[in-house]
Amino acid sequence: MHDQIFKNYTVKDRSNLIALLQDVQEIYGYLPENALLDVASFVGMPLASVYGVATFYNQFRLTPLGKNVIRICRGTACHVKNSNNILFALETELGINAGETTRDKLFTIETVACIGACSIAPVISINEEYYGRLAIKEIPKILKKYRIEGKKLSEQETQSVGA
Ligand code: FES
Repeated sequence: MHDQIFKNYTVKDRSNLIALLQDVQEIYGYLPENALLDVASFVGMPLASVYGVATFYNQFRLTPLGKNVIRICRGTACHVKNSNNILFALETELGINAGETTRDKLFTIETVACIGACSIAPVISINEEYYGRLAIKEIPKILKKYRIEGKKLSEQETQSVGA
């Protein structure tokens, strides 16, 4: 099933496990269970051990990303400007913790070490857009914008499927 990935590997052993998992994640954006089963079989390891490796490294995701990825900076400049409270407000507003995706798949929250925009701390990014000097009271309005866009997109998808 994942022959296009495996064809790049001549040695079928665990020495290629990390590279294989990286390839799978590049294709899917996360590590789906059926791909992990194929990888386990390819490298000759039990599925539980492959899961063990996948969960050990935080570069790997076991669930798909939401349509909108919110990255909240936890770097020093943002930390001293209350990024903890911003994270808490985002988690409360969306009903998920950092590292999780909402049930409607609209939002994922991730924390990052430094977004590289310290001069506008505290800062979050949503997809490619940055929100600097962010105040907690602005969060509902910002999220609303993405909810409206998400609703429009799903309506368009529904219409194109029905057409
Ligand atoms: S510490 Fe937050 S952008 Fe650098």
